[in-house]
Amino acid sequence: MTTDAGTIEGLRAEASDLDAADQLRTFRAEFVGSETPLAYFDGNSLGRPPRASVERLARFATDEWGGRLIRGWDESWMQLPFEIGDAIGRIAIGAAPGQTVIGDSTTVLLYKLVRAAFDAQHDADSARVEIVVDRDNFPTDRYLVEGIAAERGGVVRWVEVDADAGVIGAALRDAVGPETAVVLLSHVAYRSGYLADAAELTRIAHDAGALIVWDLCHSAGSVPVHADAQGFDVAIGCTYKYLNGGPGSPAFAYVAAHLQDRLAQPIQGWMGAADVFAMGPRYQPAKGMRRFLSGTPPIVGMLAMQDTLAMIERAGIWAIRRKSVALTEYALRISDAILAPLGVGVASPRDAERRGGHVTLSHPSMRAVTARLWAEDVIPDFRFPDGLRIGLSPLSTGFAETLDGLLAVRDALVAESAG
Ligand SMILES: Cc1ncc(COP(=O)(O)O)c(C=O)c1O
Repeated sequence: MTTDAGTIEGLRAEASDLDAADQLRTFRAEFVGSETPLAYFDGNSLGRPPRASVERLARFATDEWGGRLIRGWDESWMQLPFEIGDAIGRIAIGAAPGQTVIGDSTTVLLYKLVRAAFDAQHDADSARVEIVVDRDNFPTDRYLVEGIAAERGGVVRWVEVDADAGVIGAALRDAVGPETAVVLLSHVAYRSGYLADAAELTRIAHDAGALIVWDLCHSAGSVPVHADAQGFDVAIGCTYKYLNGGPGSPAFAYVAAHLQDRLAQPIQGWMGAADVFAMGPRYQPAKGMRRFLSGTPPIVGMLAMQDTLAMIERAGIWAIRRKSVALTEYALRISDAILAPLGVGVASPRDAERRGGHVTLSHPSMRAVTARLWAEDVIPDFRFPDGLRIGLSPLSTGFAETLDGLLAVRDALVAESAG
């Protein structure tokens, strides 16, 4: 395909038809900034704010915080981590009530639960000393298992992966055995967008007698997750990506009901104690999900995600997944047409069944291209060494927006090569 003016006209007409036929098209207008020409490819990193959240935040400041003051804790805030947790369980991750809670940052919550899972396994069988994690997992996941292994006398066993894909069954089968305590994997790989076969990998971990912890940061809200049906042990996810909770909004944790009272997390704070206001002399963990809390819940950070959860419930997670697949297929097709001739490669799975909500395009100039694009209100992100990550958040991204952004990538590449 050439990219003369006629062809671009044709592409624009097609993108506009795709937007018109999109069953979820009306959701886009529910996000702040969607009325501007800015092309946003980073909703998988920091989602746009829902318009409803702007009002919710203002109302909270005046009515609840300002009006109810400390009475707010008794009236509703103490329950919020559990209520929103249950909503995430029902709407986004396939979890029955009483197994999901909003806690600390993703990193802190992951640390607490991987360590709790490691300790439970090691206490039950002292031969289980290994934490299995893949080399291409998100840095926080890799760093914290190294820390836990050092602190608890454990060993990290690394799974080697193809960086353009992710962890496959055969690789995990080779890595696990009678010494495995815990396996930590990402459901959707942060760089390639590879969508792991969670059912198969969970089965492999369990067959080896290990517990599995799933990092759902890049899947919650964009890919259907079946935590209960697929027998997850523990899962953690960000809320500021596809759940649009805002910068630094707190993470959620899922712990399967049958495991909750077996896991003892290491940050023993008053909010996780059996009787919070008894303020007794010794820590006694609460029963159920409360034991995974440590300090005062970050209520302000839990406000905005409620509006996105309501949207996901209205749209349905399967319709969201269908649009997500359509958007990533479209982005790859446009990239093949207008970017491949400039030497751009695809560092993400071609098979839609094995791909989450983002695609990564590779070219040696992508770092400089990203800087040019940001200056022009086209916002992808750069992933070392040469990846341009195109995140396509299904509720807030349109096809014409995707085309405009990719045309800007083409122009930036041309400008970069012209020096
Ligand atoms: C896959 C994955 N895991 C963990 C994290 C860490 O999250 P936080 O910085 O909120 O602790 C991120 C952050 O982007 C992530 O993408």
